[in-house]
Amino acid sequence: MPAFKTLDDADVAGKRVLVRVDLNVPVADGVVTDATRIERVAPTIVELSDKGAKVVLLAHFGRPKDGPTPEFSLKPIANAVSKVIARNVQFAEDCIGEKAAEAVAKLNNGDILLLENTRFHKGEEKNDAAFVKALAANGDIYVNDAFSAAHRAHASTEGLARVLPAHAGRTMEAELKALEKGLGNPQRPVVAIVGGAKVSSKLDLLGNLVQKVDALVIGGGMANTFLAAQGVKVGKSLCEHDLAATAREIMAKANAANCTIILPVDAVVAWHFEANAPHRAYGLDAIPEDGMILDVGPQSIERIKGAIDDAKTLVWNGPLGAFELHPFDQATVAAARHVAARTRAGQLVSVAGGGDTVAALNHAGVADDFSYVSTAGGAFLEWMEGKPLPGVDVLKK
Ligand code: 3PG
Ligand code: MG
Repeated sequence: MPAFKTLDDADVAGKRVLVRVDLNVPVADGVVTDATRIERVAPTIVELSDKGAKVVLLAHFGRPKDGPTPEFSLKPIANAVSKVIARNVQFAEDCIGEKAAEAVAKLNNGDILLLENTRFHKGEEKNDAAFVKALAANGDIYVNDAFSAAHRAHASTEGLARVLPAHAGRTMEAELKALEKGLGNPQRPVVAIVGGAKVSSKLDLLGNLVQKVDALVIGGGMANTFLAAQGVKVGKSLCEHDLAATAREIMAKANAANCTIILPVDAVVAWHFEANAPHRAYGLDAIPEDGMILDVGPQSIERIKGAIDDAKTLVWNGPLGAFELHPFDQATVAAARHVAARTRAGQLVSVAGGGDTVAALNHAGVADDFSYVSTAGGAFLEWMEGKPLPGVDVLKK
């Protein structure tokens, strides 16, 4: 039994169901360039519609600061949703007030309506009680299917769950189950792979992980900071030298918690930050002064594969190298494929998330082979940091 209500516990036929979805998708020239988030919420929308609910979708888009602005309108997204679910999706030009009420009143059972950007009203981000009430006026039941916005205590992600019967949608349900397997109550040993450019953006995450996992693989630019903190000369590599003491503290914390930190033992060095730049692998004692580390080296890859082999559970955030530049994607691709193979063989539960991470796994062609890949950015990071997620916690009440 999950600690929250799901769609299995909701009697939705003939009811107005307010469904919070994350439609914050990338758009270029009015065209959705990656519909993954829409695809993720499609099952919930279709299920509710099939069960005869009047489906009223709530979402934000971008970060508008000055009320209604055409560039942040959800109107073009209604068409994108319609395409993905192959059903008609109506649109109302406001999420509260007369326009919303009229559109909702016209709905027949099974109809689907998207309301305009909730962030066009200041009350959304303030989680203002009057705004929550205005939203709630159009619903009998609330469903939250937007894990990726659950780190926000906004009216449509948190406030509504306090005033209406609240249920997790299918994607939220799947996400929470996957995260529970990842770090909540995982099968041990657990290994985490953390990469990305900067230690400074992942301090809380590293601090939390070393207390929860058995081994922590650090790659990407942030590994340079750890290496430099131990006296390795990293040349012109990306490195936060001012965080040397912090890096040593994290290592001490890991040591105290019996978490093995796995740093690179060699590195692929280039002299230009560009695809196919001339490059060579070096041991840590021989990084050229004028070179920069763009990927972990071949021996490091073998060590990382070994760590993956030892694990029953794996969580991953951040690439191991400059994966967007061939051939500095090699370590990321090799590790991702190894995780995918172990997962397919039933030997590993693998959970990954974060913007760059999803792009990296797609690049490696293995996103579908992980046990779960979250589309969440900030929410996934805050979960890895061990922080409470207001939109999730309120569902558990
Ligand atoms: C995201 O894109 O990460 C979510 O939709 C949340 O958006 P926000 O960071 O603007 O709150
Ligand atoms: Mg964000």
